[in-house]
Amino acid sequence: ALPITVRTLSETIGMKVGELILKLKNLTNSLFTINSGVEFEVAEMIAIEKKIELVAKKQVTAESSLEATITERKASANQLPRPPIVTIMGHVDHGKTSLLDRIRQQYGLSSDVVSTEAGGITQVLRAWRVEKGGKSTTFLDTPGHEAFTKMRARGANVTDIAVIVVSASDGVMPQTEEAIAHARAADVDIIVAINKVDLPDANIDKTRRQLYQLNLLPDTMGGDVPFVECSAKTGKGIDELLDSVAVLAELAELTADPTQAGSGTCLEAYLEGDRGVIATLLVQNGTLSKGDVVLCGATFGRVRAMYDDLGRPIEEAGPSTPVKFIGLDEVPDADDPFYVVDNIATAREIAGKRRERRSETDRFKFQAVNLDKLKEQN
Ligand code: GTP
Ligand code: MG
Repeated sequence: ALPITVRTLSETIGMKVGELILKLKNLTNSLFTINSGVEFEVAEMIAIEKKIELVAKKQVTAESSLEATITERKASANQLPRPPIVTIMGHVDHGKTSLLDRIRQQYGLSSDVVSTEAGGITQVLRAWRVEKGGKSTTFLDTPGHEAFTKMRARGANVTDIAVIVVSASDGVMPQTEEAIAHARAADVDIIVAINKVDLPDANIDKTRRQLYQLNLLPDTMGGDVPFVECSAKTGKGIDELLDSVAVLAELAELTADPTQAGSGTCLEAYLEGDRGVIATLLVQNGTLSKGDVVLCGATFGRVRAMYDDLGRPIEEAGPSTPVKFIGLDEVPDADDPFYVVDNIATAREIAGKRRERRSETDRFKFQAVNLDKLKEQN
C-alpha cells in the first residue's frame, strides 16, 4: 500500500480534494480518487509548494525496535572489567597453535591441539580460555594457510590484541604481512612473537629487521610494539609473552556489562547430523544463558545446550567467553552478530525478514552474472 491517501494528504496540507486530484493528474498523468494512495515523493512535492514538510512516520518493525533496544542497552551499561580477547595470527606453520598449546599446558590445561589437526594445519577458528592468578584471557587461534584470509580478518575484528607469530627460521612471509594488515585495519594492539628461536637456523636479527621495515617498532626504537622471542618447543619466552598481553590488556581498560542480555559475534557454525546446528559464539557483552532466545544474523533459536571451550556443559557465559551452543534453526554466517531477544516470535520475525532480503539480493546477483555472460556471448 502507498504511504498516504489523497484524503489524508488533503487534510495534512490543507488543499481541497478536487484541487489535489487535479494537481496529481497533471503531475503523474493518472486518475486519483479520494481513497487512492499517493507515492511519498509525489506527496512531498505537492506539500513543498505549500511550504509544508512531510515527514514519513517511521514504521515500528520488530527490527527497528530491536535496534532501539540495543542502543538503549549500550547507553545504560554498567561497565565492569572483562578479560582480554587475544588473537594469534601469522603465516602457516609458524607455530601459532603450538604456542597456544604451550600456554594452555603452562596453566594446567591438558592439551595438544596440534597433534589432533588434519595434516597439522589449522582450518578453523578456535577459542580457548586461559586462567592465571584468577585472571582469565580468551585466546583465538586462527589458521595461517593463505586460503583462510577471512578467518584471519574475522579474528582481527573481534579481538583486543593481536599476537603476530613469526618463525625466526623463515622470517616474515606473505601471511605474516597479511595478518599485520588485518590487525592494523581493525586498529588493535599488536604484540610480535618471534617463535622457533630454538632452531639452529633461527635468525632473530634478520626477522626483527624485516618487522621493523613493516613499521612494527619496539620501545627501544621509539615504537610501542612489544617484541617477545620465544619457543613453543622449549617454553622459552612464554611467560614474557603472557606478561606483555597482561600489560596491554591492563592499559586498554576493557569493560563490558555482564548484567545485560548477551550479545557478540558468531565465530563458526556448522550442521552436525541429528544434533543440529552447532555454533561457536563469542560473547562480547552481557551474559548468554541457557534458555535464552538468540537472533544470529538471519537465524534464530533457543539456547538448548551450551558448552565451554573444553566441551563442558555450562548454564551461562559472560563477556569475553567463547561458547558452543545448539539451538539455531539454520547455519548462520561466521561474522554474524548475535543478540539475545525477548521472545521467540520477535526472533522469528526478524530472521524471516532478513532471509527474504538476502534471497532478493541473491537473485539480483544471479541476474547480474547472467547479464555479463550474455554480453560476453555477443
Ligand atoms: P597453521 O595453523 O597451519 O597456520 O600452523 P601453526 O602456525 O598453528 O603452526 P603449528 O603450531 O601447527 O606448528 C607447525 C610446526 O612447527 C609443528 O611441527 C610444530 O611442532 C613446529 N613448531 C612450532 N613451534 C615451534 C618452536 O618453537 N620450535 C620448533 N623447533 N618447532 C616448532
Ligand atoms: Mg595452527
